[in-house]
Amino acid sequence: MLDKNDKSMVVCICNRLSEFMISQAVANGARTPDDVFRRYHKRRGCSNCTVRLAEAIDRALHQPQTPAE
Ligand code: FES
Repeated sequence: MLDKNDKSMVVCICNRLSEFMISQAVANGARTPDDVFRRYHKRRGCSNCTVRLAEAIDRALHQPQTPAE
């Protein structure tokens, strides 16, 4: 579910999965769009987001990690 403070882009419209939510799923081990759907207990809908989801996963995997303070 989208957090009202989450201002990142919605990647999957059917399931309202945002870029931030996808990065959180990746941080918790998701590596495929289906992993992300499972992480949020969602089902694939129209599948129009498959490429965007894969790109968001790739960005999350390759973004520099900021050290915790
Ligand atoms: S936009 Fe993601 S399943 Fe439809």
